Amino acid sequence: MKKDFKKLRHEYIEGTLNESDMHSNPFIQFQTWFKQAVNLELPDANAMTLATVSSDNRASARILLLKEYNEKGFCFFTNYNSRKGIDIKGNPSGALVFFWPELERQVRIEGKIEKLEAHLSDEYFFERPIGSRTAASISPQSNEIESREVLTQMVEKFVAENGTQFSRPDFWGGYRLIPDLFEFWQGRENRLNDRIEYNFKNKIWTSRRLAP
Ligand SMILES: Cc1cc2nc3c(=O)[nH]c(=O)nc-3n(C[C@H](O)[C@H](O)[C@H](O)COP(=O)(O)O)c2cc1C
Repeated sequence: MKKDFKKLRHEYIEGTLNESDMHSNPFIQFQTWFKQAVNLELPDANAMTLATVSSDNRASARILLLKEYNEKGFCFFTNYNSRKGIDIKGNPSGALVFFWPELERQVRIEGKIEKLEAHLSDEYFFERPIGSRTAASISPQSNEIESREVLTQMVEKFVAENGTQFSRPDFWGGYRLIPDLFEFWQGRENRLNDRIEYNFKNKIWTSRRLAP
């Protein structure tokens, strides 16, 4: 029998969010949740949705991997000429969403996106396996390509010309999303979910509870 997806629902019972348990610094709160997700070895615990908006106001979203975070922001790596790269150039506003279903948790983060310093992009580029470095160097991400075969030919040509010794291409590197809003969401029974939002205003973070 066919499953009716509209009937897919489960009760959220894993946890609760009390203001008293939340750190006043949302970066530290994020770290606590993120570490729990990583330590539980949840698949792709560092996968996050990035939403961007083009200069003509069209929104788009895609999954990326979080590669670094600290009190400056949340870092990811990509092609600067990709669709998201062009969006960010024209409009630096961005939003991230993490979803850890096993923990019944979601984190939303919003802010402005800036390019990462070149030396940090270099550092990460050279940590990547050679195959990924090659792929980043040849792929005109988000542009139309004729066929899969053309892509493989581009790899072969690049390898023949450059071997394994090449620098990071200018069009590939990191971005940092600098948050001014976080929301921590914990699923609760009967959809009476807990939501705590943090806002950065006048150089301080304040938090409040939102209705589910
Ligand atoms: C689990 C997962 C991880 C991904 N990680 C990245 C990443 O770190 N960087 C990246 O450029 N694309 C990554 N992608 C591919 C993007 O979702 C997307 O297809 C690509 O960046 C092109 O997006 P754009 O055309 O909107 O710029 C990932 C996809 C998945 C499903």
